[in-house]
Amino acid sequence: FRLTTVEEFEAATDRLLETGAKVGADSWQMRVKNQTPHCKFGEEGICCRICSMGPCRITKKAPRGICGCDAHGIAGRNFLRFTAGGAATHSDHGREICHTLHTVAPDGNYKVKDAEKLIRIAKEWGVETEGRDIYELAHEMSELALMEYGKPFGVQRWLKRAPEHTQKLWHDAEIEPRAIDREVSTAMHMTHMGNSSKPEALVRQALRSGMSDGWGGSMCGTEFSDVMFGTPKPVDTEANLGVMKEDQVNIIVHGHDPSLSEMICEYADDPEMVALAKTMGANGINVAGVCCTSNEVAMRRGVPMAGNFLQQENVVLTGACEAIVVDVQCIFPALGPLSKCFHTKFITTSPIAQMPDSDFIRFNAETAGENAKKIVRTAVENFANRKQELVHIPQLKQKATVGYSVEAIVKTLDGVTNSQVDVLGTTKPLLECITSGVLRGAVAMVGCNNPRVRPDYAHIELMKKLIKNDIIVILSGCSAQAAARAGLMDKRAKDLCGAGLKRVCELADIPPVLHMGSCVDISRMMVLASELSKDSGLPISKLPVVGCAPEWMSEKAVSIGNYVVATGIDTFLGVDPQVSGSSEVTYWLTEGVRKWVEAAYTVEKDIEKLGDAMIARIEEKRAALGI
Ligand code: SF4
Ligand code: FE2
Repeated sequence: FRLTTVEEFEAATDRLLETGAKVGADSWQMRVKNQTPHCKFGEEGICCRICSMGPCRITKKAPRGICGCDAHGIAGRNFLRFTAGGAATHSDHGREICHTLHTVAPDGNYKVKDAEKLIRIAKEWGVETEGRDIYELAHEMSELALMEYGKPFGVQRWLKRAPEHTQKLWHDAEIEPRAIDREVSTAMHMTHMGNSSKPEALVRQALRSGMSDGWGGSMCGTEFSDVMFGTPKPVDTEANLGVMKEDQVNIIVHGHDPSLSEMICEYADDPEMVALAKTMGANGINVAGVCCTSNEVAMRRGVPMAGNFLQQENVVLTGACEAIVVDVQCIFPALGPLSKCFHTKFITTSPIAQMPDSDFIRFNAETAGENAKKIVRTAVENFANRKQELVHIPQLKQKATVGYSVEAIVKTLDGVTNSQVDVLGTTKPLLECITSGVLRGAVAMVGCNNPRVRPDYAHIELMKKLIKNDIIVILSGCSAQAAARAGLMDKRAKDLCGAGLKRVCELADIPPVLHMGSCVDISRMMVLASELSKDSGLPISKLPVVGCAPEWMSEKAVSIGNYVVATGIDTFLGVDPQVSGSSEVTYWLTEGVRKWVEAAYTVEKDIEKLGDAMIARIEEKRAALGI
C-alpha cells in the first residue's frame, strides 16, 4: 500500500488537458492565468459597490468613499455580505431538505429511513412522540423546522444542543441566531448604504449570521437528511477518476442536495434502465460523485467519489462521462461549453442553478421518481454518442472507508476502551485517548480547493503531518475527497500515523482520517464538539481541538468558519479572507472575537507553518489542562 501523490494527480490532469486542447476546450487552469494578477482592491476587501455614487476604492490619496466610509467599514461590510451569502446558501439547502421531509409517505418517493433519529429530535424539540404515526410526526417536524427560518420570536432550537457554557457566551455576546432568514436580512440591512460601518458591529453580525447556518439551516439539512436517507455508518468505497468505467454508462452526480442524487442512484439500479444500457452496448450503469453530493451518497451508499471541486472539469475531459447531473452550488458554469466539446450531457435540475449550454430537467420532490428516471434514461441513451478516440480514464483510485457520523464515531470508538460499560455510547473513550496522550488532539479539516493553493496539496500534506503527530483528523467536503483520493481513508494508512493513533486505528478498526460528510455536515462536528465538552466537563475552547480550512474558496466556507469560531474552536485558514485592507477587521477576526467566544482565526499561507501552528495550539491547550 502507498498513497497516491499530488504529482500523480497532476500528471493525470495534464494528460486530460491534452484531450481538452485537442477539442478546443477551455480549462480553469487557463482561466486562472488570464485572471492573474487579481484586482488588488478586491483582494484586500476595500472596493465598495453597494451604492451608485460609487464604486469607491480606498487608496492613500482617497482614504474614504464618497459617503465617507473608510477601509474598515468597507472591508467589514464586504465580509458580512460574504458571510450572509454563504449562510443563505447552506440554509436554503437545509430548507429544501425540510420541504422534502414534508413529502415523505410510506409509498412515496421519499420515506423515513431512520425513525429512531426522528423521534430523538422530536423529543429534543418537546414534540409528543408516544403512539404517533411516524409519517405524521415527520410532517409536523418538517413544519416546525421550516418555522425556524422565519419565526418572529425566539432563537434557534438547535442551540440547546450546545454546552451551557457555550450557550451563555452566545447569549452574552448577542450572537444567538434568531430566525435563519432574519440573520441574512439583518446582514443585508446592516450593509446597505448608510448603515453600519463599525467593524466590531459588522463582525458580530457575521458571527451571528454564520451561527444561523451551522446551528440553524445546515443542522436542519444534516439531521433531516439522515432521517430520510439514513444516518451514515462506516461503508467501503473507492475514490479518484479511476472509479469511472470505460465499458459502462457513467453518470456523474455533482452539487449538494441528496434529494436528487439519492433518486439517481435508485434509478441507476432499476432493472429496466440496466437492460436499456445493455441494449446500448454498455455493461451497466456506473454512478460516481463530485463535490458534496458525492460525499452524501458515498457516506450512505458507498457510491464511489470521482473527485472534488477542481476535478469537475476532469470528469468531462475523460470523454467517458455520459451525463454530469447537477443540482446546486459549486458547479462551474464552464461545464456548459466544456460538455459541448464532448458527447456529455450537462443536466441542470434546479431553478436555483440554471446555466447556459445545459439541458434543464427540472427536479421536484413530488415528481422525483419520474424526473430521476428521465435523467438516467437520457444518460443511458447518450452512451451511443461516445467518441471512442477521446476516451481516457486515468487509472488512479484508492480504497476508502467513509461514513463517520457522530453516531458512528461514538459506536466505533467504544472499541478502544476496556473500562466500565457506563462510558459506552458516549465520547468518553475518545476523551480517554486524548487525556492519556495516546491521541494529542483532533483537527477538523474542511473546505474546498482553490487555485491560489496547489490543489489538494495543502489538505494532504497537513493530514499526513497531523496523523504522524498522533492527531486524529475529521473531515468533510472537498477536504475529505482529497484524503480519499490520496488513500488516507484506506485503513492501511494507519502505518503513516504516530504510535498512539496507529494503536487507536487498530483497536477501533478505523482509518486515521474520518469522513464526516458534506459541508452542511460540519454541523455534525459542532455536535461532536458539544458532546466532548459535556462528557469532559470542559468548555469547548479548552479541548485540544482546532478547525482548519487550508484551501477554502466560497462564501459558504466563510459562513462555516464563523460558526466554528463562534462555537469556541480556533480556526486556521490557508487562504486570506478578503479583509487585509483593514487592520481593524483583521484585528476583530484574529483577536477581538476571542473575548466573546474564546476562539479566533489564524491565517497562515505557508502550509508547513500552518501545520506547526495547529500542533502548537493543540499542545498549548493540553499544557493548560495539565495533560
Ligand atoms: Fe462609495 Fe459609500 Fe457608495 Fe460604498 S456606500 S460605493 S463607499 S459612496
Ligand atoms: Fe460543499
